[in-house]
Amino acid sequence: MEAGARTALVTGASSGIGAAAVRALAAEGLQTVAAARRIDRCRDLAHEVGGEAVELDVTDPESVAALAAALKSVDVIVHSAGGALGLEPVAEADEEAWRTMYETNVLGVERVTKALLPALERGGNGHIVVIGSIAGVEVYPGGAGYTAAKHAVNALCRTLRLELLGRPIRVTEVAPGMVETEFALVRFEGDADRAAEVYRGIEPLTAEDVADVIAFSVTRAPNVNLDYIAVKPVNQATATDYHRTS
Ligand SMILES: NC(=O)c1ccc[n+]([C@@H]2O[C@H](COP(=O)([O-])OP(=O)(O)OC[C@H]3O[C@@H](n4cnc5c(N)ncnc54)[C@H](OP(=O)(O)O)[C@@H]3O)[C@@H](O)[C@H]2O)c1
Repeated sequence: MEAGARTALVTGASSGIGAAAVRALAAEGLQTVAAARRIDRCRDLAHEVGGEAVELDVTDPESVAALAAALKSVDVIVHSAGGALGLEPVAEADEEAWRTMYETNVLGVERVTKALLPALERGGNGHIVVIGSIAGVEVYPGGAGYTAAKHAVNALCRTLRLELLGRPIRVTEVAPGMVETEFALVRFEGDADRAAEVYRGIEPLTAEDVADVIAFSVTRAPNVNLDYIAVKPVNQATATDYHRTS
């Protein structure tokens, strides 16, 4: 870690893209703060990269306020906390699942951003990186609860870019296609067979592939804003069109 290095807070750092982002940003010399509900995993990761760990539930305003109070400074936020629950059509929508997806993916980004905007601006070289999804610009049957939330994330990022004009804060939306993480396992409530079927024969992205893109965007010159980056496996064209080799 370099002296005077920028500090990056990563939400959803206990798993998948968030954990890989912590490793990638630490490798680029940033100081890292790994945050999620599973604090033991965050502590192990922080120990591994020489960073810090904070327990965080992005759906809980008090937890976010405690995070903001605990951080001495922050220059980069990577919003990776989020995910999907279920794959039911609208006719069978589980409203509690929809509420959780909106709370986590959308209000989580709003809450953490709002709490840390003053600190980002103070640093003079702020950067907000939001992990959206191709589900933020596409739809698919059974996906409405998740796609609606990620469409809102896309709108939030575009709005932030307008509202932050004239302030030294970049806004990047990284929109992955299929990435093999705990995402499908969470979506299908721990059903490992159903989760594995999602990625069968596709050679999905790894969390490290996406973290590489995150680190690239964060390490550009301060005047360079990568607005929107869609990143998909070669065998995936859209959310519903892909080629399976097995
Ligand atoms: N995998 C994909 O194919 C894919 C594609 C496009 C976009 N994405 C997006 O990428 C992001 C990361 O997902 P992933 O693929 O890395 O899945 P993952 O392995 O399931 O990681 C999700 C992370 O979100 C955290 N999280 C969930 N609810 C939270 C809460 N209330 N407060 C704080 N943290 C919370 C989890 O930590 P705790 O449970 O410990 O809190 C975990 O660290 C998500 O926004 C997801 O929608 C994923």
